[in-house]
Amino acid sequence: MTKPLKAAVIGAGAISLQHLPFLQKSEWAELVGVCDLSPVSAEIAARKFGSSGHFTDVATMLEVAQPDIVHVLTPPQSHGALVSMALSAGAHVICEKPMSPTAEEADKLMAEAAAAGLHLIENHNYRFNDEVVALQRVIAEGRIGAVREVDIRLALGIRDEGSRFADTNVVNSIHGMPAGVLHDFITHLSYLMLDLAGVRHFERVIAAMSNHGGGDLFTFDDLDALLISTNDPESGPETDAVPVHGRMRFSCRTSPDLFSIVVRGEDGQAATDIFHPFLDVMVARPGGEQLTPIVNHLVNGTSLARSGMRNFGRKLLQHTPYHGLERFLDQTYAAIATDRQPPVTADHVLDAARLVDQIVTAGSAGSGANR
Ligand SMILES: NC(=O)c1ccc[n+]([C@@H]2O[C@H](COP(=O)([O-])OP(=O)(O)OC[C@H]3O[C@@H](n4cnc5c(N)ncnc54)[C@H](O)[C@@H]3O)[C@@H](O)[C@H]2O)c1
Repeated sequence: MTKPLKAAVIGAGAISLQHLPFLQKSEWAELVGVCDLSPVSAEIAARKFGSSGHFTDVATMLEVAQPDIVHVLTPPQSHGALVSMALSAGAHVICEKPMSPTAEEADKLMAEAAAAGLHLIENHNYRFNDEVVALQRVIAEGRIGAVREVDIRLALGIRDEGSRFADTNVVNSIHGMPAGVLHDFITHLSYLMLDLAGVRHFERVIAAMSNHGGGDLFTFDDLDALLISTNDPESGPETDAVPVHGRMRFSCRTSPDLFSIVVRGEDGQAATDIFHPFLDVMVARPGGEQLTPIVNHLVNGTSLARSGMRNFGRKLLQHTPYHGLERFLDQTYAAIATDRQPPVTADHVLDAARLVDQIVTAGSAGSGANR
Protein backbone atom coordinates (compact mmCIF):
# COMPACT_ATOMS: atom_id res chain seq x y z
CA MET A 1 0.00 0.00 0.00
CA THR A 2 1.39 3.41 -0.98
CA LYS A 3 1.09 6.44 1.31
CA PRO A 4 -2.45 7.93 1.25
CA LEU A 5 -2.90 11.00 -0.98
CA LYS A 6 -3.56 14.24 0.89
CA ALA A 7 -7.04 15.39 -0.19
CA ALA A 8 -8.78 18.74 0.16
CA VAL A 9 -12.30 19.83 -0.69
CA ILE A 10 -13.48 23.24 -1.89
CA GLY A 11 -17.22 23.70 -1.35
CA ALA A 12 -19.04 21.99 1.52
CA GLY A 13 -22.52 22.04 -0.05
CA ALA A 14 -24.90 19.31 -1.20
CA ILE A 15 -22.57 17.24 -3.40
CA SER A 16 -19.74 17.32 -0.82
CA LEU A 17 -21.91 14.92 1.20
CA GLN A 18 -21.16 12.31 -1.47
CA HIS A 19 -17.38 13.05 -1.73
CA LEU A 20 -16.54 13.51 1.95
CA PRO A 21 -17.69 10.08 3.22
CA PHE A 22 -15.38 8.48 0.63
CA LEU A 23 -12.45 10.65 1.74
CA GLN A 24 -13.18 9.84 5.37
CA LYS A 25 -13.01 6.08 4.93
CA SER A 26 -10.80 5.48 1.87
CA GLU A 27 -7.42 3.84 2.38
CA TRP A 28 -6.16 5.91 -0.58
CA ALA A 29 -6.95 9.32 0.96
CA GLU A 30 -6.21 11.46 3.99
CA LEU A 31 -8.54 14.47 4.35
CA VAL A 32 -6.39 17.50 5.15
CA GLY A 33 -8.71 20.41 4.43
CA VAL A 34 -12.28 21.53 3.82
CA CYS A 35 -12.83 25.04 2.51
CA ASP A 36 -16.13 26.89 2.21
CA LEU A 37 -17.02 30.58 2.08
CA SER A 38 -19.22 29.78 5.06
CA PRO A 39 -16.97 29.16 8.09
CA VAL A 40 -19.74 27.20 9.79
CA SER A 41 -20.19 24.84 6.81
CA ALA A 42 -16.42 24.32 6.56
CA GLU A 43 -16.04 23.60 10.27
CA ILE A 44 -19.04 21.29 10.53
CA ALA A 45 -17.92 19.29 7.47
CA ALA A 46 -14.34 19.09 8.75
CA ARG A 47 -15.49 17.82 12.16
CA LYS A 48 -18.02 15.37 10.77
CA PHE A 49 -15.67 13.83 8.20
CA GLY A 50 -12.41 13.97 10.16
CA SER A 51 -10.50 16.68 8.29
CA SER A 52 -7.37 18.00 9.98
CA GLY A 53 -8.15 21.56 8.81
CA HIS A 54 -10.99 23.88 7.81
CA PHE A 55 -10.72 27.13 5.88
CA THR A 56 -12.71 29.94 4.25
CA ASP A 57 -9.95 30.98 1.85
CA VAL A 58 -8.77 28.64 -0.88
CA ALA A 59 -5.25 30.13 -1.21
CA THR A 60 -4.67 29.70 2.52
CA MET A 61 -5.87 26.10 2.44
CA LEU A 62 -3.61 25.24 -0.50
CA GLU A 63 -0.62 26.79 1.27
CA VAL A 64 -1.25 25.32 4.71
CA ALA A 65 -2.66 21.87 3.86
CA GLN A 66 -0.50 21.20 0.76
CA PRO A 67 -2.98 18.71 -0.77
CA ASP A 68 -2.05 16.20 -3.47
CA ILE A 69 -5.63 16.21 -4.80
CA VAL A 70 -8.25 18.94 -4.62
CA HIS A 71 -11.99 18.32 -5.13
CA VAL A 72 -13.70 21.39 -6.61
CA LEU A 73 -17.35 21.12 -5.50
CA THR A 74 -18.58 24.69 -5.88
CA PRO A 75 -21.14 26.13 -8.36
CA PRO A 76 -19.97 25.74 -11.99
CA GLN A 77 -19.24 29.43 -12.67
CA SER A 78 -16.50 29.35 -10.00
CA HIS A 79 -14.82 26.13 -11.21
CA GLY A 80 -12.35 27.67 -13.69
CA ALA A 81 -10.57 29.99 -11.25
CA LEU A 82 -10.49 27.38 -8.47
CA VAL A 83 -9.20 24.62 -10.76
CA SER A 84 -6.40 26.93 -11.95
CA MET A 85 -5.44 27.79 -8.36
CA ALA A 86 -5.28 24.13 -7.35
CA LEU A 87 -3.23 23.19 -10.42
CA SER A 88 -0.84 26.10 -9.77
CA ALA A 89 -0.38 24.76 -6.25
CA GLY A 90 0.74 21.43 -7.76
CA ALA A 91 -2.41 19.42 -6.96
CA HIS A 92 -4.36 17.02 -9.17
CA VAL A 93 -7.98 18.14 -9.47
CA ILE A 94 -11.29 16.31 -9.41
CA CYS A 95 -13.91 18.83 -10.49
CA GLU A 96 -17.67 18.48 -10.33
CA LYS A 97 -19.55 18.63 -13.58
CA PRO A 98 -19.99 20.80 -15.55
CA MET A 99 -16.30 21.68 -15.25
CA SER A 100 -16.87 24.84 -17.29
CA PRO A 101 -19.64 26.65 -19.17
CA THR A 102 -17.99 26.03 -22.58
CA ALA A 103 -15.69 23.49 -24.24
CA GLU A 104 -13.22 26.30 -24.99
CA GLU A 105 -12.74 26.89 -21.25
CA ALA A 106 -12.48 23.16 -20.63
CA ASP A 107 -9.75 22.99 -23.28
CA LYS A 108 -7.82 25.82 -21.59
CA LEU A 109 -8.00 24.18 -18.17
CA MET A 110 -6.98 20.81 -19.58
CA ALA A 111 -3.97 22.45 -21.26
CA GLU A 112 -2.96 23.99 -17.90
CA ALA A 113 -3.15 20.55 -16.27
CA ALA A 114 -1.15 18.91 -19.07
CA ALA A 115 1.54 21.62 -18.87
CA ALA A 116 1.85 21.03 -15.13
CA GLY A 117 1.89 17.23 -15.55
CA LEU A 118 -1.22 16.90 -13.38
CA HIS A 119 -4.55 15.14 -13.76
CA LEU A 120 -7.71 17.21 -14.19
CA ILE A 121 -10.72 14.96 -13.95
CA GLU A 122 -14.40 15.83 -14.26
CA ASN A 123 -16.83 13.77 -12.22
CA HIS A 124 -18.64 11.37 -14.59
CA ASN A 125 -20.25 9.45 -11.73
CA TYR A 126 -23.17 7.77 -13.50
CA ARG A 127 -20.77 5.96 -15.85
CA PHE A 128 -19.76 3.97 -12.76
CA ASN A 129 -23.24 2.97 -11.58
CA ASP A 130 -24.02 -0.77 -11.42
CA GLU A 131 -26.68 -0.52 -14.14
CA VAL A 132 -24.40 1.36 -16.56
CA VAL A 133 -21.52 -1.02 -15.88
CA ALA A 134 -23.93 -3.91 -16.67
CA LEU A 135 -24.89 -2.23 -19.98
CA GLN A 136 -21.21 -1.67 -20.81
CA ARG A 137 -20.60 -5.38 -20.19
CA VAL A 138 -23.53 -6.47 -22.41
CA ILE A 139 -22.13 -4.29 -25.22
CA ALA A 140 -18.51 -5.40 -24.72
CA GLU A 141 -19.50 -9.07 -24.75
CA GLY A 142 -21.15 -8.51 -28.14
CA ARG A 143 -24.54 -9.74 -26.89
CA ILE A 144 -26.52 -7.07 -28.78
CA GLY A 145 -24.10 -6.73 -31.71
CA ALA A 146 -22.80 -3.43 -33.05
CA VAL A 147 -24.55 -0.52 -31.30
CA ARG A 148 -26.85 1.44 -33.62
CA GLU A 149 -28.94 3.55 -31.27
CA VAL A 150 -28.76 4.93 -27.74
CA ASP A 151 -31.77 6.52 -26.11
CA ILE A 152 -31.29 8.37 -22.80
CA ARG A 153 -34.17 10.02 -21.00
CA LEU A 154 -33.97 11.97 -17.74
CA ALA A 155 -37.18 13.13 -16.10
CA LEU A 156 -36.81 15.25 -12.96
CA GLY A 157 -39.32 17.47 -11.21
CA ILE A 158 -37.03 20.49 -11.15
CA ARG A 159 -39.97 22.90 -11.18
CA ASP A 160 -41.88 21.15 -8.39
CA GLU A 161 -42.51 22.95 -5.12
CA GLY A 162 -39.53 22.35 -2.82
CA SER A 163 -37.04 21.84 -5.67
CA ARG A 164 -33.79 23.74 -5.07
CA PHE A 165 -33.97 24.87 -8.70
CA ALA A 166 -37.46 26.39 -8.27
CA ASP A 167 -36.60 28.51 -5.21
CA THR A 168 -37.15 32.18 -6.07
CA ASN A 169 -35.83 33.42 -2.71
CA VAL A 170 -32.40 31.76 -2.96
CA VAL A 171 -31.86 31.56 -6.71
CA ASN A 172 -29.62 28.64 -7.70
CA SER A 173 -26.60 29.99 -9.56
CA ILE A 174 -26.93 27.25 -12.20
CA HIS A 175 -29.67 29.43 -13.73
CA GLY A 176 -26.84 31.72 -14.92
CA MET A 177 -25.26 29.03 -17.13
CA PRO A 178 -25.77 29.21 -20.92
CA ALA A 179 -28.45 26.48 -20.87
CA GLY A 180 -29.67 27.46 -17.40
CA VAL A 181 -30.67 24.49 -15.25
CA LEU A 182 -30.29 22.11 -18.20
CA HIS A 183 -26.55 22.72 -17.95
CA ASP A 184 -26.61 20.82 -14.65
CA PHE A 185 -27.73 17.66 -16.43
CA ILE A 186 -26.42 17.77 -20.02
CA THR A 187 -22.91 16.71 -19.00
CA HIS A 188 -24.31 13.48 -17.49
CA LEU A 189 -26.39 12.82 -20.60
CA SER A 190 -23.43 13.56 -22.87
CA TYR A 191 -20.74 11.37 -21.27
CA LEU A 192 -23.21 8.49 -20.98
CA MET A 193 -24.23 8.91 -24.61
CA LEU A 194 -20.62 8.91 -25.88
CA ASP A 195 -19.64 5.98 -23.69
CA LEU A 196 -22.58 3.72 -24.62
CA ALA A 197 -22.65 4.72 -28.30
CA GLY A 198 -18.92 3.98 -28.46
CA VAL A 199 -18.17 7.15 -30.42
CA ARG A 200 -16.13 10.27 -29.71
CA HIS A 201 -18.18 12.69 -31.74
CA PHE A 202 -21.62 13.20 -33.31
CA GLU A 203 -21.35 14.94 -36.68
CA ARG A 204 -25.01 16.01 -36.71
CA VAL A 205 -26.82 17.41 -33.70
CA ILE A 206 -30.40 18.60 -33.94
CA ALA A 207 -31.77 19.95 -30.68
CA ALA A 208 -34.57 21.97 -29.18
CA MET A 209 -34.36 23.54 -25.73
CA SER A 210 -37.60 25.02 -24.43
CA ASN A 211 -39.03 26.76 -21.42
CA HIS A 212 -42.35 24.98 -21.35
CA GLY A 213 -43.14 26.15 -17.82
CA GLY A 214 -42.52 29.81 -18.78
CA GLY A 215 -41.49 32.64 -16.43
CA ASP A 216 -38.15 34.38 -15.96
CA LEU A 217 -36.40 32.05 -13.50
CA PHE A 218 -35.85 29.16 -15.92
CA THR A 219 -34.05 29.81 -19.19
CA PHE A 220 -34.97 26.30 -20.35
CA ASP A 221 -36.64 23.35 -18.65
CA ASP A 222 -36.84 20.87 -21.52
CA LEU A 223 -34.43 19.31 -24.01
CA ASP A 224 -34.99 17.09 -27.01
CA ALA A 225 -31.95 16.18 -29.08
CA LEU A 226 -31.19 13.89 -31.98
CA LEU A 227 -27.54 12.99 -32.53
CA ILE A 228 -26.05 11.18 -35.52
CA SER A 229 -22.51 9.86 -35.77
CA THR A 230 -21.00 8.26 -38.86
CA ASN A 231 -18.65 6.66 -36.33
CA ASP A 232 -15.83 7.13 -38.79
CA PRO A 233 -14.87 10.75 -39.41
CA GLU A 234 -12.24 9.74 -42.00
CA SER A 235 -14.29 7.65 -44.38
CA GLY A 236 -17.90 8.71 -43.89
CA PRO A 237 -21.13 6.76 -43.91
CA GLU A 238 -20.73 5.11 -47.33
CA THR A 239 -18.05 2.77 -45.98
CA ASP A 240 -18.29 -0.12 -43.50
CA ALA A 241 -18.45 2.24 -40.53
CA VAL A 242 -21.57 1.73 -38.44
CA PRO A 243 -23.53 4.96 -38.00
CA VAL A 244 -24.96 5.48 -34.52
CA HIS A 245 -28.04 7.51 -33.64
CA GLY A 246 -28.52 9.03 -30.19
CA ARG A 247 -31.69 10.41 -28.68
CA MET A 248 -31.45 12.58 -25.60
CA ARG A 249 -34.40 13.85 -23.63
CA PHE A 250 -34.77 15.93 -20.49
CA SER A 251 -38.21 16.67 -19.16
CA CYS A 252 -39.65 18.05 -15.92
CA ARG A 253 -43.28 17.54 -16.89
CA THR A 254 -43.65 13.77 -16.73
CA SER A 255 -43.75 11.50 -13.67
CA PRO A 256 -42.20 9.62 -12.02
CA ASP A 257 -38.63 10.89 -12.00
CA LEU A 258 -36.59 8.46 -14.10
CA PHE A 259 -33.25 8.08 -15.85
CA SER A 260 -33.81 5.46 -18.50
CA ILE A 261 -31.30 4.14 -21.01
CA VAL A 262 -31.98 1.88 -23.98
CA VAL A 263 -29.12 0.65 -26.18
CA ARG A 264 -30.16 -0.96 -29.47
CA GLY A 265 -27.72 -3.07 -31.47
CA GLU A 266 -27.80 -5.06 -34.69
CA ASP A 267 -28.53 -8.27 -32.74
CA GLY A 268 -30.62 -7.11 -29.80
CA GLN A 269 -31.29 -4.41 -27.25
CA ALA A 270 -30.56 -3.73 -23.58
CA ALA A 271 -32.40 -1.38 -21.26
CA THR A 272 -32.07 -0.08 -17.73
CA ASP A 273 -33.01 2.84 -15.50
CA ILE A 274 -30.52 4.44 -13.15
CA PHE A 275 -33.25 5.55 -10.72
CA HIS A 276 -35.26 2.29 -10.92
CA PRO A 277 -32.52 -0.28 -11.56
CA PHE A 278 -33.12 -3.39 -13.66
CA LEU A 279 -31.49 -4.96 -16.71
CA ASP A 280 -33.59 -6.10 -19.63
CA VAL A 281 -31.79 -7.79 -22.53
CA MET A 282 -33.69 -8.84 -25.65
CA VAL A 283 -31.61 -11.01 -27.95
CA ALA A 284 -32.07 -14.00 -30.24
CA ARG A 285 -32.52 -17.07 -27.98
CA PRO A 286 -32.02 -20.78 -28.70
CA GLY A 287 -35.29 -22.02 -30.14
CA GLY A 288 -35.37 -19.60 -33.03
CA GLU A 289 -37.90 -16.94 -33.95
CA GLN A 290 -40.86 -18.78 -32.43
CA LEU A 291 -39.43 -19.21 -28.94
CA THR A 292 -37.25 -16.09 -28.74
CA PRO A 293 -40.00 -13.66 -27.59
CA ILE A 294 -41.28 -16.16 -25.01
CA VAL A 295 -37.81 -16.90 -23.61
CA ASN A 296 -36.95 -13.18 -23.55
CA HIS A 297 -40.13 -12.45 -21.60
CA LEU A 298 -39.50 -15.27 -19.15
CA VAL A 299 -35.85 -14.30 -18.59
CA ASN A 300 -36.59 -10.59 -18.31
CA GLY A 301 -39.68 -11.13 -16.16
CA THR A 302 -37.64 -13.19 -13.69
CA SER A 303 -34.86 -10.61 -13.77
CA LEU A 304 -37.39 -7.80 -13.13
CA ALA A 305 -38.80 -9.64 -10.11
CA ARG A 306 -35.26 -10.13 -8.78
CA SER A 307 -34.52 -6.44 -9.37
CA GLY A 308 -37.57 -5.56 -7.27
CA MET A 309 -36.18 -7.54 -4.32
CA ARG A 310 -32.65 -6.23 -4.88
CA ASN A 311 -33.88 -2.62 -5.04
CA PHE A 312 -35.72 -3.10 -1.74
CA GLY A 313 -32.41 -4.28 -0.21
CA ARG A 314 -30.59 -1.35 -1.77
CA LYS A 315 -33.08 1.05 -0.23
CA LEU A 316 -32.40 -0.44 3.20
CA LEU A 317 -28.63 -0.24 2.64
CA GLN A 318 -28.92 3.31 1.20
CA HIS A 319 -27.31 2.21 -2.07
CA THR A 320 -28.51 5.39 -3.79
CA PRO A 321 -28.08 6.48 -7.44
CA TYR A 322 -24.91 8.22 -6.20
CA HIS A 323 -23.15 4.88 -5.58
CA GLY A 324 -21.24 5.30 -8.88
CA LEU A 325 -19.54 8.37 -7.45
CA GLU A 326 -17.80 6.34 -4.76
CA ARG A 327 -16.65 3.78 -7.37
CA PHE A 328 -15.42 6.63 -9.62
CA LEU A 329 -13.46 8.17 -6.73
CA ASP A 330 -12.05 4.83 -5.60
CA GLN A 331 -10.80 3.95 -9.11
CA THR A 332 -9.46 7.49 -9.62
CA TYR A 333 -7.53 7.56 -6.34
CA ALA A 334 -6.20 4.04 -6.89
CA ALA A 335 -4.97 5.03 -10.36
CA ILE A 336 -3.29 8.24 -9.22
CA ALA A 337 -1.72 6.57 -6.18
CA THR A 338 -0.24 3.82 -8.34
CA ASP A 339 0.69 6.08 -11.27
CA ARG A 340 -1.86 4.65 -13.72
CA GLN A 341 -4.29 6.41 -16.08
CA PRO A 342 -7.49 7.40 -14.19
CA PRO A 343 -10.75 6.00 -15.62
CA VAL A 344 -12.01 9.42 -16.78
CA THR A 345 -9.39 10.72 -19.21
CA ALA A 346 -8.82 14.18 -20.69
CA ASP A 347 -10.40 12.88 -23.93
CA HIS A 348 -13.54 11.77 -22.08
CA VAL A 349 -13.87 15.20 -20.47
CA LEU A 350 -13.21 17.20 -23.64
CA ASP A 351 -15.40 15.01 -25.89
CA ALA A 352 -18.28 15.42 -23.45
CA ALA A 353 -17.70 19.20 -23.18
CA ARG A 354 -17.76 19.50 -27.00
CA LEU A 355 -20.98 17.51 -27.24
CA VAL A 356 -22.55 19.73 -24.55
CA ASP A 357 -21.52 22.77 -26.62
CA GLN A 358 -23.04 21.29 -29.78
CA ILE A 359 -26.33 20.56 -28.01
CA VAL A 360 -26.52 23.96 -26.33
CA THR A 361 -25.71 25.77 -29.59
CA ALA A 362 -28.21 23.75 -31.62
CA GLY A 363 -30.83 23.87 -28.86
CA SER A 364 -30.57 27.62 -28.30
CA ALA A 365 -31.03 28.46 -31.99
CA GLY A 366 -34.54 29.73 -32.52
CA SER A 367 -35.43 29.28 -28.88
CA GLY A 368 -37.19 32.68 -28.74
CA ALA A 369 -40.64 31.20 -29.20
CA ASN A 370 -39.91 28.18 -27.12
CA ARG A 371 -43.11 27.52 -25.22
N1 LIG B 1 -22.24 14.68 -10.02
C1 LIG B 1 -23.47 14.85 -9.59
O1 LIG B 1 -24.29 13.96 -9.70
C2 LIG B 1 -23.84 16.18 -8.97
C3 LIG B 1 -24.98 16.31 -8.18
C4 LIG B 1 -25.23 17.57 -7.60
C5 LIG B 1 -24.40 18.65 -7.85
N2 LIG B 1 -23.32 18.47 -8.66
C6 LIG B 1 -22.43 19.59 -8.99
O2 LIG B 1 -21.67 19.95 -7.84
C7 LIG B 1 -21.37 21.34 -7.86
C8 LIG B 1 -21.84 21.96 -6.55
O3 LIG B 1 -23.22 21.73 -6.42
P1 LIG B 1 -23.92 21.70 -4.99
O4 LIG B 1 -25.32 21.25 -5.27
O5 LIG B 1 -23.10 20.98 -4.00
O6 LIG B 1 -23.94 23.26 -4.66
P2 LIG B 1 -24.20 23.95 -3.24
O7 LIG B 1 -24.69 25.31 -3.54
O8 LIG B 1 -25.04 23.07 -2.37
O9 LIG B 1 -22.77 24.02 -2.56
C9 LIG B 1 -21.73 24.81 -3.07
C10 LIG B 1 -20.86 25.24 -1.89
O10 LIG B 1 -19.70 25.88 -2.42
C11 LIG B 1 -19.39 26.96 -1.58
N3 LIG B 1 -18.55 27.91 -2.34
C12 LIG B 1 -18.90 28.65 -3.42
N4 LIG B 1 -17.84 29.35 -3.87
C13 LIG B 1 -16.79 29.05 -3.07
C14 LIG B 1 -15.44 29.44 -3.02
N5 LIG B 1 -14.93 30.32 -3.88
N6 LIG B 1 -14.66 28.94 -2.05
C15 LIG B 1 -15.14 28.05 -1.15
N7 LIG B 1 -16.42 27.64 -1.15
C16 LIG B 1 -17.24 28.13 -2.09
C17 LIG B 1 -20.72 27.52 -1.16
O11 LIG B 1 -20.62 28.29 0.03
C18 LIG B 1 -21.53 26.23 -0.97
O12 LIG B 1 -21.46 25.76 0.36
C19 LIG B 1 -22.07 21.89 -9.11
O13 LIG B 1 -21.15 21.94 -10.17
C20 LIG B 1 -23.15 20.86 -9.40
O14 LIG B 1 -23.53 20.80 -10.76
C21 LIG B 1 -23.01 17.26 -9.20
